[in-house]
Amino acid sequence: MADSAPNYNDYLKLGPLLQLQGGLEENEDGLIPDELLFIVVHQALELWFKIVNRELRLARDHLGAETVAEEAIPHVVHHLRRINRVLELAFDHFKVMETLTPQDFLGFREKISPASGFQSSQMREMEILLGIKANQRVRYGKVDPIEHLKKLSKDSESNAGAWEKVQTVLEETTFQEALRTWLYRTPIHGSMPGDEGDEEVVLKFIKDYLTNFDGFMDRQCERLTANMPESGDTTGRFANSKKAATEFLMAEDAEEEHRPRLRRIRAGLLFIESYRTLPLLAWPRLLLDSVVELEQLILIWRNRHARMVERMIGRRVGTGGSSGVDYLDKTGKIRIFTDLWAVRTVMMPRDTLPPLHNPAFYGFAK
Ligand code: HEM
Repeated sequence: MADSAPNYNDYLKLGPLLQLQGGLEENEDGLIPDELLFIVVHQALELWFKIVNRELRLARDHLGAETVAEEAIPHVVHHLRRINRVLELAFDHFKVMETLTPQDFLGFREKISPASGFQSSQMREMEILLGIKANQRVRYGKVDPIEHLKKLSKDSESNAGAWEKVQTVLEETTFQEALRTWLYRTPIHGSMPGDEGDEEVVLKFIKDYLTNFDGFMDRQCERLTANMPESGDTTGRFANSKKAATEFLMAEDAEEEHRPRLRRIRAGLLFIESYRTLPLLAWPRLLLDSVVELEQLILIWRNRHARMVERMIGRRVGTGGSSGVDYLDKTGKIRIFTDLWAVRTVMMPRDTLPPLHNPAFYGFAK
């Protein structure tokens, strides 16, 4: 490194960076302008994926610590918000890509096959870090996204490096796990896990909540049955809602031995969402809002990408060999933070909530 003062070009490594758009031919001058745009948009998004993954790790590390101090929560929210703004920005890249016409794209599409965004290891890292489960991954034929990266690792040094990173992430705690551990520790009516009688406090909170929820559902059902008799089996629909609320909060979908933990996680989630105006819960609820927003943005990203693809190539087979838009629409159904969505179905207005015990614990002096 020379002794000269820092300068823009050298600091940002613009020399090598701007040499990296030559495509397969490694010769930018030989590319048509549309292909240069295609390469730059992909590279720009991969740089943003890099930021997303870094921020996600930082958020995960704060939340997954042995003890999470109250002061740590604003940091988690900060990282998540940054990710969310980046994802929003990503949608606009697709607008730029759409200045490419279907026919112009066909002019260079064939030569890049079987290269495809399906091989984006940073996208896979993001999914794994968030907490996608192996059985949620969408496969086509015998192609599994992760196994495919492993296979590619034999092709080049760069692919081998990418696979190594994916392997590392597969061993790490996911953001979803860290979030669940944190939610598990939510004080409920001032009671913490490990406190004497905590399990009873949690169960009582859930039962009181469900009693009020049933009443709330019954009132709505009566109203609808009286005013909309033509809407069919309203009573049946509300009975299903009540049953689903009980199953969710009592964690009946889990194996017997895992129920107490899952019940506490869901009770914590419901507690934060229900008593969200309490000072101590102000940052936790922002955190939950940011996670829901993050998943919402990823769903929109997937949908936005799929619609851009449909506009560009219709319903033909992808360069990676998948069914193209059909494949992408399947990935658009993947949800990771299912409990954060599900809790919304069982929420009630403030005046229907069971009374809060121990308000002083939450910084709320009456
Ligand atoms: C003309 C523009 C584009 C077209 C026609 C297109 C097409 C496709 C298709 C058909 C797939 C499914 C896999 C396959 O069979 O190839 C796919 C996957 C993917 N594409 Fe694109 N794409 C475009 C632009 C982009 C851009 C700009 C990005 C940004 C990085 C991107 C990222 C991805 C990712 C990450 C996947 C994997 C999705 C998953 O498996 O969940 N694509 N793309």
